[in-house]
Amino acid sequence: GTQYGHLESNVTLACGKSQFRIPVVWHLNHSSALPWHKVTSDGALVLLHVGHSAQGIYSCYDNRGLLLHSVKLRLGHPPGLLSISCQVPNHTHVRCSWMESVKTFLPAQYNASFRGNGQEWMPCVMDVTRKHCDVDHPAFWQTIHTLRITETNALGSETTYVRFKLHELLKPNPPESVFAKELEGYPKRLIVSWNFPSSWPLHEAFPLVFQIRYRPQGSMYWSEVSKQEESPVVIFDALAGHLHQVQIRARDEVNADSQWSEWSPLLLVRPWEGQTENLQNTHTHTHTHMYATSTSHNGVISFSLIEKYFVGVQLLLCISRVRQRRRNHVTKQELTSMVKMKSMPI
Ligand SMILES: *[C@@H]1O[C@H](CO)[C@@H](O)[C@H](O)[C@H]1NC(C)=O
Ligand SMILES: *[C@@H]1O[C@H](CO)[C@@H](O)[C@H](O)[C@H]1NC(C)=O
Ligand SMILES: *[C@@H]1O[C@H](CO)[C@@H](O)[C@H](O)[C@H]1NC(C)=O
Ligand SMILES: *[C@@H]1O[C@H](CO)[C@@H](O)[C@H](O)[C@H]1NC(C)=O
Repeated sequence: GTQYGHLESNVTLACGKSQFRIPVVWHLNHSSALPWHKVTSDGALVLLHVGHSAQGIYSCYDNRGLLLHSVKLRLGHPPGLLSISCQVPNHTHVRCSWMESVKTFLPAQYNASFRGNGQEWMPCVMDVTRKHCDVDHPAFWQTIHTLRITETNALGSETTYVRFKLHELLKPNPPESVFAKELEGYPKRLIVSWNFPSSWPLHEAFPLVFQIRYRPQGSMYWSEVSKQEESPVVIFDALAGHLHQVQIRARDEVNADSQWSEWSPLLLVRPWEGQTENLQNTHTHTHTHMYATSTSHNGVISFSLIEKYFVGVQLLLCISRVRQRRRNHVTKQELTSMVKMKSMPI
């Protein structure tokens, strides 16, 4: 058999069930060297303040060398409270993971259940090797949910309770198949496309809002564009001739308490770098852009340089165009203002 003991305590090993009055000899792993110990009058071995090295197979023999009893000793700690975190990647799935706060050194069983306020406990389906459990179709309309996980080992048992609000934990996975590419003929534009995260149901009832951020590589400051629903989005104020970093993230559009996904992996993309000289020679007009991209989210406002050509009258024209553009726009938050105008070289 196996006997379990607490590390750093005194562990008593009896020499079998019967009370021997004869002197006995103890061996560990068939050798006579024993850790710090004493032997009581009834032949029990008391190991004092045991450490890991005291583990092994203990055998007691009578004075004629006959084996009386043998026991395997394993040492560890009883379970402590668990540290638990839950992920909610969509409205129909909760995954909770746990970590031990105490290293027990002993095999353990786990047992987890889950319930909404005032509801029956239901099992949280375990994957013990990965230390997580899953609940499908939680009662999302319940404001508070409770998860309890019981860890049991040979030395004891501990139950940890956590309470949380699913709608606050709701956090989509990042958008997938994210692409960013140049727009031919436009040295300051980039086009970014993406797919919904595959773990998010494609259903009108679950709209997502997306946020795209971009910056020239090496710059500290991100510019941001928000977009509801449809991909792609065009960035109008890339820095010509520079490699850009682009990322996108998603959030449930309806639920303001929910969380943004992580950002998608960094994409590197360079705007189109064609022969603009030829274009200028063949056209009497050159394209000039003036824009103010406001990222109201973090209060950072970035203005690009107003390019060298500028005609006042056409600025007014532009502003009215922006107004119209805004009215037409599906997305209120999209690029706060973008002015595009044609102007005569001075
Ligand atoms: C272990 O045994 C020693 C010696 O008998 C004693 O001094 C000590 O208090 C014991 N420790 C515990 C944790 O019982
Ligand atoms: C005794 O054997 C066990 C394996 O059965 C080993 O883990 C332990 O370290 C050994 N103890 C000593 C003191 O050699
Ligand atoms: C699971 O844990 C509960 C306490 O939270 C306990 O009553 C029940 O017996 C455990 N079930 C198993 C299979 O260990
Ligand atoms: C919700 O997310 C889980 C985990 O990623 C996934 O297995 C499940 O299919 C998703 N549900 C829907 C409806 O997409």
